[in-house]
Amino acid sequence: MEKVEIHGKLGKSTILINERLKNLNKYVTADKAVIITDETVYHHYHNDFPEWDIITIGQGEKIKNLDTAAIIYERLVQLKADRSTFIVGVGGGIVCDIAGFIASTYMRGLKFGFVSSTLLSQVDASVGGKNGVNFKGFKNMVGVFNQPEFVICDTGLLKTLPEKEILCGIAEIIKHAAIADADLFAFLEREYQKALMLDTDVITKLVRDSIIIKSTIVNRDETERGERKKLNFGHTFGHAIEKTKGLPHGEAVSIGMAIAADFSVKEELLPAKGAERLSGLIKNMKLPVSFQGNDAEIFEALQKDKKKDGSNIHFVFLDDIGSCVIRKISLNSIPVKELIANA
Ligand SMILES: NC(=O)c1ccc[n+]([C@@H]2O[C@H](COP(=O)([O-])OP(=O)(O)OC[C@H]3O[C@@H](n4cnc5c(N)ncnc54)[C@H](O)[C@@H]3O)[C@@H](O)[C@H]2O)c1
Ligand SMILES: [Zn+2]
Repeated sequence: MEKVEIHGKLGKSTILINERLKNLNKYVTADKAVIITDETVYHHYHNDFPEWDIITIGQGEKIKNLDTAAIIYERLVQLKADRSTFIVGVGGGIVCDIAGFIASTYMRGLKFGFVSSTLLSQVDASVGGKNGVNFKGFKNMVGVFNQPEFVICDTGLLKTLPEKEILCGIAEIIKHAAIADADLFAFLEREYQKALMLDTDVITKLVRDSIIIKSTIVNRDETERGERKKLNFGHTFGHAIEKTKGLPHGEAVSIGMAIAADFSVKEELLPAKGAERLSGLIKNMKLPVSFQGNDAEIFEALQKDKKKDGSNIHFVFLDDIGSCVIRKISLNSIPVKELIANA
């Protein structure tokens, strides 16, 4: 087991890599605790849950909303949860985002922790203190910044996770390496097969390094004003492709990263070899670098990007493998047609 302590403006959070779900009760000192989980995670792992009250929710992005939150508040009232009750979200990013939101708002805030059960939630959602729900089709529209007391990243839980979900986490790991860690990138190039086979040592390193990269970036900027924008690498085109093509987030972001790297080459920031290495790694990891689409629909989606600033956008370019720069550029200056044609 490895411990990473995150000290940020939002408080301290302890991330426990390779701790086990069955040891969860060691980390909760409150007299009363309530678990929030989803049906699938409950089905696979309820035997390892401590004997606490359990609230089970459905699955999928559609249930990450205020209606589900209301159902959970109601159950907490029935269970006589009070300010001393501890909330634990056991599940992927959806469960953790909702559980953190509920814990931060019920009775003006209870202590909470997570057991992250997907690779994506271990390498991405476990760090950064973002909690929230979707509202009227807008993603993460209602929420709070608040740190969990602890996050257990039990890599043993990944063995039941479908491959397409594993790949969502892999895409964010590649992103972290590409923007901030050339050594991790080279490690991924060497060990991609072991990563896909969920080799314990390799996955443990990937989770640990990802958490350190993300927390270092987030700690410099906890409310997303500057540095944190780096984590958006691949996500400008990624979100546009996700929306228009309905691709899974990890696939769309992989294509978005390949496009952003090509754009970086065009802008003479990145040598062509860097973009080739990134595409090569993405493909080795069974993720896509291209898609069928037309530039008009992608351009339209880019214009709806919620992170855009008037007609400008902060675009994350690579200037090397393991290093990135943010440039404010006009949306109209992006050669969408050319970039899509190459993708
Ligand atoms: N808070 C943040 O910083 C942050 C960061 C990234 C993503 N997110 C959010 O996370 C969500 C996506 O998270 P996700 O990809 O973990 O999706 P998810 O929570 O929907 O989990 C994916 C699927 O895997 C199942 N599952 C979970 N653990 C399993 C296991 N161990 N074995 C078998 N099946 C399992 C779930 O039931 C679900 O069907 C999005 O809503 C996104 O907005 C938040
Ligand atoms: Zn992402």
